[in-house]
Amino acid sequence: MERGIASSSRQDGELQFEAALRPRTLHDFTGQTKLKENLAIAIEAARKRGDAMDHVLLYGPPGLGKTTLAYIIAAELGVPIDLTSGPVLQKKLDLTGMLSSIREKQVFFVDEIHRLLPDVEEMFYSALEDFRVDIVVGAGPGARTHSLPVPAFTAIGATTRMGMISAPMRGRFGLLLRLNHYDQAELVRIVDRSAALLEVSVDGPGAEEIARRARGTPRIANRLLRRVRDYAQVRAAGHIDLDVARTALDMLEVDRHGLDEVDQKIMLTVLVKYGGGPVGLNTIAASVDEEADTIEEVYEPYLMQLGFLDRTPRGRRATDAAFDYFKIPRRPGLGMPQGSLFE
Ligand SMILES: Nc1ncnc2c1ncn2[C@@H]1O[C@H](COP(=O)(O)OP(=O)(O)OP(=O)(O)O)[C@@H](O)[C@H]1O
Ligand SMILES: [Mg+2]
Repeated sequence: MERGIASSSRQDGELQFEAALRPRTLHDFTGQTKLKENLAIAIEAARKRGDAMDHVLLYGPPGLGKTTLAYIIAAELGVPIDLTSGPVLQKKLDLTGMLSSIREKQVFFVDEIHRLLPDVEEMFYSALEDFRVDIVVGAGPGARTHSLPVPAFTAIGATTRMGMISAPMRGRFGLLLRLNHYDQAELVRIVDRSAALLEVSVDGPGAEEIARRARGTPRIANRLLRRVRDYAQVRAAGHIDLDVARTALDMLEVDRHGLDEVDQKIMLTVLVKYGGGPVGLNTIAASVDEEADTIEEVYEPYLMQLGFLDRTPRGRRATDAAFDYFKIPRRPGLGMPQGSLFE
């Protein structure tokens, strides 16, 4: 059973497409090996004990599989899942309403949990910790607090912004699971799996090209596959090989490493404006007009994985690989080390 998340019709096609490609079991979920091991143990232990599983907080950049995992956890536990999100739960009453119909051991998924309002968040604490919610009945001197019990359930929170999760909130989750960007081999497996589900024919080099440009992100890999499929159907008799993938992705102006506009702005700021750095996070944030937290939690992890950016005690620094990729000449005396010991 699902309820709570409304979607605009503009996004419906995309959401249906994502839902169709979503792995349903832990076995089908590619990559994130350590996270899956931890999760498998927690699931099995809960099943053996017959208890509700510990609360789980999933965090990491967008499109890496947090929502997918929430569904998988519920399916593996064999329990229903109710869905809501931080921005949807506007009032304490919204939360009480949802918790009042919760069933023993089920999963209660709160997406964008960093966006809960403070009073709702506070009410959520007692639900997480003591399985009860306090509601105030009446007003003024006659007001009384009623404590309503809630059956033991498993909360799954998801966030792209771990830095915005308060310590008391974090402390109430037994399992903190971080999702990382996927490597090339994992993304190839995801492209192959999605292609099979979509009944598209793609060869090894074609799948590798799509994977390479997917920014370490399964959601992007699936989207690119969909676009390339369209091109292949119209121009290449439906088969995706290296040439078809390359031509289609170049037409769509997808960067060779899948870098998006913000990634590029960040790199060009460090490379050009600050001669390769080191430059402070807040300075970069001001330059590209994004929040420092977002840069740190959403953008930098991929740029670091690519080997384009280093975090140093004095700030962010572009690597040689980044200078080469963006074809920026190194400016002597700015940022880069001077001379060498053997000169
Ligand atoms: N490990 C995986 N294996 C196969 N497909 C995956 C995997 N992770 C994610 N996907 C695919 O990527 C799509 C996006 O995943 P999902 O919606 O779970 O991301 P998310 O982390 O919840 O993103 P957001 O932060 O934007 O909510 C899913 O539709 C799914 O098909
Ligand atoms: Mg999600």
